Amino acid sequence: MTGAPDHSSVDPLERVTALLEPVFSELASAPTDPVVRPSDHADAQVNGALPLAKTLGRNPREVAQGIVDSGVLDGVCSSVEIAGPGFVNLVFSGGFLSEMARRTAADERLGCAVTAAPRTVVVDYSAPNVAKEMHVGHLRSTVIGDALVRLHEFSGDTVIRENHIGDWGRPFGMLIEHLLDLGEDVAAAGLGQGDLDDFYKQANAKFADSEEFQERSRARVVALQGGDAETGALWRRLVAMSTEYFNTVYDKLGVLLTDEDLAGESMYQPGMRATIDRLETAGLMEESDGARVVFPDGFTNREGEPLPLIIQARTGGFNYATSDLTCVIDRVERLGADLLLYVVGAPQQQHLEMVFAVARMAGWLPEGIDAVHVAFGNVLGEDRKMLRSRSGDSVKLVDLLDEAVDRATALVEEKNPELDDAERQAVAAAVGIGAVKYADLSTDRVRDYVFDWDRMLSFDGNTAPYLQYAHARIRSIFRRAGLDGDSVDPQTIEVVEPAERALVLRVLATPSVIADATESQAPHRLCTHLFDLAQTFTSFYEHCPVLKADERVRASRLALCDLTARTLANGLGLLGIDAPERM
Ligand code: ARG
Repeated sequence: MTGAPDHSSVDPLERVTALLEPVFSELASAPTDPVVRPSDHADAQVNGALPLAKTLGRNPREVAQGIVDSGVLDGVCSSVEIAGPGFVNLVFSGGFLSEMARRTAADERLGCAVTAAPRTVVVDYSAPNVAKEMHVGHLRSTVIGDALVRLHEFSGDTVIRENHIGDWGRPFGMLIEHLLDLGEDVAAAGLGQGDLDDFYKQANAKFADSEEFQERSRARVVALQGGDAETGALWRRLVAMSTEYFNTVYDKLGVLLTDEDLAGESMYQPGMRATIDRLETAGLMEESDGARVVFPDGFTNREGEPLPLIIQARTGGFNYATSDLTCVIDRVERLGADLLLYVVGAPQQQHLEMVFAVARMAGWLPEGIDAVHVAFGNVLGEDRKMLRSRSGDSVKLVDLLDEAVDRATALVEEKNPELDDAERQAVAAAVGIGAVKYADLSTDRVRDYVFDWDRMLSFDGNTAPYLQYAHARIRSIFRRAGLDGDSVDPQTIEVVEPAERALVLRVLATPSVIADATESQAPHRLCTHLFDLAQTFTSFYEHCPVLKADERVRASRLALCDLTARTLANGLGLLGIDAPERM
């Protein structure tokens, strides 16, 4: 077949919806949704006849009959049956499913359309603080944010990554003085190894003990804010030492962030004066307890009094909120963003909601430009309390990642002793890091989750190793037959057996699931779907011999195997997880 490529959806539910919509709309004399949903009794069910009958004042079963008689589903369905008060149960025809599967398999994007309305999306994620340890909250932000970046890029949006590191503020006076006390080399050695907390704690302790140190620190902040060149150079050294360390963590994690993506709080300092002027001009600024504040609508404290967002403290200093407001302006006006995603822990909800509210009042977030707090819950230890190390300190992220890879190395060694060293290391990294990421992504992000090594590294259940193994096992079918994916012909696909139908239905639902996960910032929905798909494949493989089947059937089933493997690998890739060819 030639001609223009067909961009219509491969999702059977969407196709049926498109076919039925004109029939419903004609009957109703207005655009009407046929309400096509998955069904327990059939492949799908049409629920829209009941509400339509109600508007028309007619018998619902008669309306349903009219829809069946329209014949628009002939060919697409092998059975269309009215059930109960006026539902319509659909069973898709093998020919239709085969055609959709062939199209999906022949498509590099596996049936996923590029969005018709691309957006410019800024994703604010990771955002650790200079000279402070990255904790598991930063892990969550980094992992979730990176998956959202990949999802939005895949859908055709323009994505701008911003790593809003905490690199400004009063503590930098004492941090720079401590850096000078230690000497740059000693400081660099410690910070380079990730001893960020020690550095911070030492500086803090000196600040508490010594008036002389306090004096120096205060003077240093003034010098920093005043643009003193030598202080600026020291500050840059300090920031560089920390970001170098963050980069080693990003490297281990395999995330997309680079130095180009750094957009720390310091970057917004020069713009803050203008932000304040604009708030003044808009008449939004008020005085409260000597501070300059804005009262956004709808925010009250426990006593029911209006809650202010503090823009300028009594001392004249600018706030976290001021920098975030300046940041909104920058993202919208300089970068042209129309969707701002903030992948930040749930405790900052009120701060961000107030910032968004003030930005809307000031006209910086007009209709059509959305700011979304992509909130997430805590990581808990097995005791269901905040995850802590054995010594009671917060867990260091690098230690966690190294342990993940160590544990995975042992597992991979046991599963496949034949792998050579290089491949074993690569697979162990994919499995260990994949397990940590997947554990984080696979539960609804707003909920807390328990960090459990045994569960996340299990080859059973909703885990990365299970999905990676499912993928590698399919690839091994091809290796055993001496074939590669290229020898597969998508056009050979014939969907006949129930287990083939079940598999294809799962595969065909993938584009809609990916679109939904992207739109709702809900990577866990993609995880659940991939897990379902892998399980459905297992039952297909139990019921449908592949290599031993007759030539035609074998070709079709090999194509289905390849399609499943690609769907799994693409899905894992969108989550930032590698799918090794063998394990
Ligand atoms: N650095 C902050 C923290 O560690 C997170 C910053 C989030 N982004 C923002 N635009 N406020 O909690």
